Amino acid sequence: MAQQEVFLKKLVAHCKEYGFVFPSSEIYDGLAAVYDYGQNGVELKNNIKRYWWDSMTLLNDNVAGIDSAVFMHPTVWKASGHVDAFNDPLIDNRDSKKRYRADVLIEEQIAKYEDKIEKEIEKAAGRFGNDFNETLFRQTNPRTIEYKAKRDNLYKRFVSAQNENNLDELKQIIVDEEIVCPVSGSRNWTDVKQFNLMFSTEIGSTAEGATKIYLRPETAQGIFVNFLNVQKSGRMKIPFGIAQIGKAFRNEIVARQFIFRMREFEQMEMQFFVRPGEEMRWFEYWKQTRMKWHKALGLGDNKYRFHDHSKLAHYANAATDIEFEMPFGFREVEGIHSRTDFDLNSHEKYSGKKIKYFDPDLNQSYTPYVIETSIGVDRMFLSIIAGAYTEEPLEGGDMRTVLKIPPVLAPVKIAVLPLVRKDELPERALKIMDELKFNCYCRYDDKDSIGKRYRRQDAVGTPYCITVDYDTLKDDTVTIRHRDTMEQERVPISALEDIVEDKLNIKNILKAIKA
Ligand code: GAP
Repeated sequence: MAQQEVFLKKLVAHCKEYGFVFPSSEIYDGLAAVYDYGQNGVELKNNIKRYWWDSMTLLNDNVAGIDSAVFMHPTVWKASGHVDAFNDPLIDNRDSKKRYRADVLIEEQIAKYEDKIEKEIEKAAGRFGNDFNETLFRQTNPRTIEYKAKRDNLYKRFVSAQNENNLDELKQIIVDEEIVCPVSGSRNWTDVKQFNLMFSTEIGSTAEGATKIYLRPETAQGIFVNFLNVQKSGRMKIPFGIAQIGKAFRNEIVARQFIFRMREFEQMEMQFFVRPGEEMRWFEYWKQTRMKWHKALGLGDNKYRFHDHSKLAHYANAATDIEFEMPFGFREVEGIHSRTDFDLNSHEKYSGKKIKYFDPDLNQSYTPYVIETSIGVDRMFLSIIAGAYTEEPLEGGDMRTVLKIPPVLAPVKIAVLPLVRKDELPERALKIMDELKFNCYCRYDDKDSIGKRYRRQDAVGTPYCITVDYDTLKDDTVTIRHRDTMEQERVPISALEDIVEDKLNIKNILKAIKA
């Protein structure tokens, strides 16, 4: 099994064992691409959401939040283009009866060429050591040149087939590249067909005449249809933004890679309304601001990169992804789109209601342009877990598994541990916990040896363990153990609140972003 697959399997198992993520309805063998969050998962998820929400609404006094309904008038999805254009190109393998996204099969083939190039470079770097010149090697090594030519040629064909919506060409690429079904190993493919990703249901009883409605595939439309409500009730002046966190639903066909691609997931979206003509400046501003937000978590700057889109969605005039190095390579965590005035214009047309902004500074009415930042909570969750998961050898030959989750996001911030379960140590520990629990999420644990309890807290990513021992009863000090370094220091109980405030409060990381 490839190393990346082994790592992903470890993450999935760890998430289940330590109460982060469970398969949905597991006692009934689960439901594909649907997951439940456990006791630690929900805390991490809430902390991610809090970090995002506060960075949007506290740091920007021109960004307001809303919470719109999942169900919306069906015409919303006609106006947004989702009824006609929210499709994936699908292809079936006749032997395995498995269905795939044609674009994903081709993207995986492109990634294979890229992997081959990287492997050649790795091998050569090992061979030549310090004398290795990567640029020269890329330009001169025949095998690397051949793979690059194949990759570039395929990429060009793929982009043009996508831009032209040419399903026959997508199929032809799969045939020409001799792509096989990962299950049957055969090349017995059907034609490529479009498949709409929206889930539908009915509202109202049949007697009244039920209406077909959709489960929203993005939260953004709830913001667009409330543009005037928020602008008028909040007396907002352009430029301003509306932020929202909520569930979205997509009938994903390629539902693999754990919580990376789910059928029910959560989005954190912000639409920023600007003057027409100023959108590129704001696009650049939000690109940099959002990257700063990610990097401030300290998982490593090299784990993030931008990926500018070559194929733009029907509503966009510029788009980029912020990608994170997932267990299966760099993948999109967040999309930043310049959505033009497409959505507001389209809702104006379909609803017959005027959706314009009167700009007092210009003394003029116009349809604002929009910059969107859109990030999946679940993908962000996966990136944090993947970036944090570490296996470390210990003295004596043991290993520890530790989640080095950024402390401000950690599900449990402090574990309070009495050294032994007697002699009033538990009572003293519980008293400390009673004082700290108003500052952050604390857990008390008195089962097993102290070493085992440290390991348990490492596995859920608890940044600090506070051990209460016999000296505590004498001098009101405790041992504080730091998760990442395993260093221990003796501190007075009275200092604990300051430590918590300094290291665990989201406020400090927000200040760092704004600086
Ligand atoms: N409003 C724009 C929009 O929805 P998108 O690129 O389709 O754009 C935005 O989605 C973000 O939502 C993605 O970057 C990803 O983090 C998350 N996302 C999309 N589909 C997802 C899925 N099936 N499972 C989990 N997260 C998903």
